[in-house]
Parts: sequence; C-alpha cells; structure tokens
Amino acid sequence: MSIKEIKTYKIVTFGCQMNARDSEKLAGILEDKGFSEVADEDTADIVIFNTCTVRENANQKLYGHIGQLKKSYLENKNKIIGICGCMMQEKDEVEKIVEKYPQVKLIFGTHNIDEFGDLIDEVIYTNKKVIKVYDEAENIEKTLPTKRVFDFKCGINIMFGCNNFCTYCIVPYVRGRERSRDVDSIVSEIKKVVAEGVIEIMLLGQNVNSYSGKAGDSYKFNDNNKVTFPELLNEVAKIDGLKRIRFMTSHPKDLSDELIEVIKKNSNICRHIHLPVQSGSDEILKAMNRHYDRSAYLKVIDKIRNNIEDVGITTDIIVGFPGETEKDFEDTLSLINQVSYDAVFTFEYSKRTGTKAAEMENQVPENVVKERFKRLLKVVEDNSGRNVEKYVGRTMDVLVEGEDKVSGKLTGRLSNNYLVHFNGDKELIGRIIDVKLTKSCKFYFEGEIVSKWK
Ligand code: SAH
Ligand code: SF4
Ligand code: F3S
Repeated sequence: MSIKEIKTYKIVTFGCQMNARDSEKLAGILEDKGFSEVADEDTADIVIFNTCTVRENANQKLYGHIGQLKKSYLENKNKIIGICGCMMQEKDEVEKIVEKYPQVKLIFGTHNIDEFGDLIDEVIYTNKKVIKVYDEAENIEKTLPTKRVFDFKCGINIMFGCNNFCTYCIVPYVRGRERSRDVDSIVSEIKKVVAEGVIEIMLLGQNVNSYSGKAGDSYKFNDNNKVTFPELLNEVAKIDGLKRIRFMTSHPKDLSDELIEVIKKNSNICRHIHLPVQSGSDEILKAMNRHYDRSAYLKVIDKIRNNIEDVGITTDIIVGFPGETEKDFEDTLSLINQVSYDAVFTFEYSKRTGTKAAEMENQVPENVVKERFKRLLKVVEDNSGRNVEKYVGRTMDVLVEGEDKVSGKLTGRLSNNYLVHFNGDKELIGRIIDVKLTKSCKFYFEGEIVSKWK
C-alpha cells in the first residue's frame, strides 16, 4: 500500500464526552498528515472506531459497524480499519476482534492515543497488523493537535481516569487511576482555543470534584501548591473571551459549598449541574459504593437550588442493579418525583466483566429489569416539563448551536442546558444572542430572537 492511495478518513465515536474529545485529537493527527475527513465510513480510506464499553450495548454497536464495513473493505483492500478507546483495554475483546475480524489492521488503547500518528504510519508503510495496548498510563498527557467538531465549543480534559470504583462500573479499569492535569497547561490550552474562536468549553473528568492538580508556575493558591476544582474553575472563569464554562461529571459525594459559591459568583459558569444519583435506595447506593445516601444527596440538591438561580439539574439512573428489590426501585421513583429533575438519563444495569457487581449473586432477572425500566420511563416522562413554565416569557442568553433537521429552525442552548428552537439565519450559529422563550414543549422551548448582538 502506498501513502498516495490513502487520502480520506472517518472517525466514529461511540462513547462519552471524553471519548469525543479523544476523537478530536485523532482527527487532528490525521489532518496534520494531510488526510481529509469524509462523512461516510464506506468511502473513507481510514476508518477509526473510538469505542466505549460502559454498557453491553455500546460494545454491540461496534460489532454492527465492523460487520457493515465488510463489503467496502472487500472492494478496497487498502482500506484501513482501526479500533481504539475503552473497549480495547479489555483483553478478551481484543482477542475476539483479532480472531473474528481479520480486516481490522490497527488496535490501540486509551493510554496511547498520543502514539496514534506513529501507529497509523506503521500500518500504512508496512501493511502489517499493528496492535498496541498498554495496561497503564505512562505519561499524563502530551499536547496533541486537534480538529474540533464545532468551531465555537469544545471539551477540555482536566483529569483522566477514575478512583471511585463504583461496583457496577468498568471505567476505572479501562481508563486507569485518576490523574489531574496542571492548572498551567489547562489554562493555556483554553486560551489557545479561545484565540481560535471557541466561546464555550466543557471541563471534562469522571469526577471533576476530585480534581487535584498542581498549580504550575503561574498559579500559586496555597502552600502545598495543590489546586481544588472550585479554585481551578474560578481561574478558568477569568479567561478573557470565554463566554461559557460547563463541566462534567460531578460526583455527589464531593460536591462542595465552595463549588456552589464559585458558580454563583461567576456568571460565565453555566447554570447546569449533572449530578448522577444512580438510585434512590440507601441499600443500593451502599452496594454501588457511591459513598452518599439519599438524604445526603437531597441536601446537596437543596443547597444547589437555594443558591443558584435558574439552575438546571440532571441525573443518571441505573435500574436493576443486583439485589434491587421492588421497594428499592420505588425509592428511586420517589426520589425522581421529589427532586424534579430537568432531565434524567436512564440505563438498564449492564453486567461488566471484572467489576464487583458482576460477581454479586443476586442479579435481577432481565424481565424484571425491563418491566421496571418501562415504569421508570413513565415516571421520568410524567415529571418532564415540571420546571419549565417559570421560564416562558423571559428573554435569555442562547448559544446558537445548529439547525434542527426536522423543522429547519435554529437550535440553541440556555445556560441551564435547556434547548430552544427559533427562526433565524444560519450565520448566527456559534454566537450568543438574546432569545425570548415563547412556549415550553417540556424538554425544550420555542422562542423568538430579541437581539442578535450581545
Ligand atoms: N463518572 C460519571 C459517569 C460515567 S458513566 C459518574 O460517576 O457519574 C455514565 C453513566 O453510565 C453513569 O452515571 C451510570 O449511570 C451509567 N453506567 C455506568 N456503568 C453502568 C453499568 N454497568 N450499567 C448500566 N449503566 C451504567
Ligand atoms: Fe464509574 Fe463511578 Fe468512576 Fe463514574 S465515579 S466513572 S460511575 S466508577
Ligand atoms: Fe464509555 Fe470510556 Fe466514556 S467506557 S463512557 S467511553 S470513559
């Protein structure tokens, strides 16, 4: 195969925001080599699947895609199919792929995406299969080129890995131990993207509240030179030209009063907190190793609501964790009713090999999980839209993000993460404008532009 025959690429992302940010780095590396992105997996010379393994259905998605590519691979034997991401940190999955899918030429993991440029060169120039996955991270980061999906917003990693070992979760095994980046390097990366036109960033970590980075030379906060998440956020909020700051995810056990204060004080920090509760039952929360109980969680919710005006609070729920009784499940339903979330993301428990919960004997039968999941969706549906009426009639800041394919209207986002649809010119995409919210449609609003300039 010669480099001349390789011109285009397509990266398919299956996972979370961190996975998506990694894909932007992979794209940056390929762009630097002169390849250009195409929309279609079938026609691309290089296809990279950036996988997720948090739930079984994330894995299945990958196999569906590889299967679909078989025809285009047979027509173009020069096609390079590569797989990376969290699923590749699992030895069994790598073995399965090597055995069943000879068309896959490149496999690497979450700890060596910085080597991607060399690995892809090796495949191109030697035409050999390249498999390189490390069990642990060797270095915390290297500055990699990126190609952003959006010109006006992007994610910024502030930490990697997770130390929490929630008993259902595979992430600590596939992303390794928690590593925080230094404040200096985070701030300089943000300044760079802002200079390139980004106005909204999302600070990314599995548990941003346990951020503990070194201050670096330019930032001295206290004697031991360690910086907390609220301190970092406060620093980031000072960056000129940065209009909006989001962060994801907050673990309820570590959400501090200081964080609430910092949000309150800085209007450019978005009024949105994603605070996954997972279950409303104390027994289940304990078995999940979440380190909070229902009442502690509700206290945090109250504090947030009492201090941050117009805040949007969203959550994740797992239904059917091992040992979950009907009573435990009803506790989850009652918590949802009590908190009145702005959005709830619901998941059926998925058994992940290697986690503690996978070994638990009291797994809930699938039919029970399915039946509970339906009831959960009904409660979530009945609750949706409970908080929105108070916003109707108000004019609020909206970051215009794109066009709604169905209605052709523009879509934008409020600081509290609600979506708004309104008529307007595509030129406005990427700007923050004033929109009057004219109607609530439960989880989004319809609106009218009031002013195009802010
Ligand atoms: N670090 C984040 C979550 C990362 S995974 C946090 O602690 O909140 C995103 C969500 O996937 C989790 O909040 C959880 O609801 C869900 N999830 C994780 N493992 C799961 C599993 N084994 N089965 C079902 N859902 C799971
Ligand atoms: Fe998984 Fe828990 Fe870590 Fe989130 S905090 S990534 S749910 S182990
Ligand atoms: Fe999935 Fe890995 Fe994110 S397992 S949720 S892509 S950290």
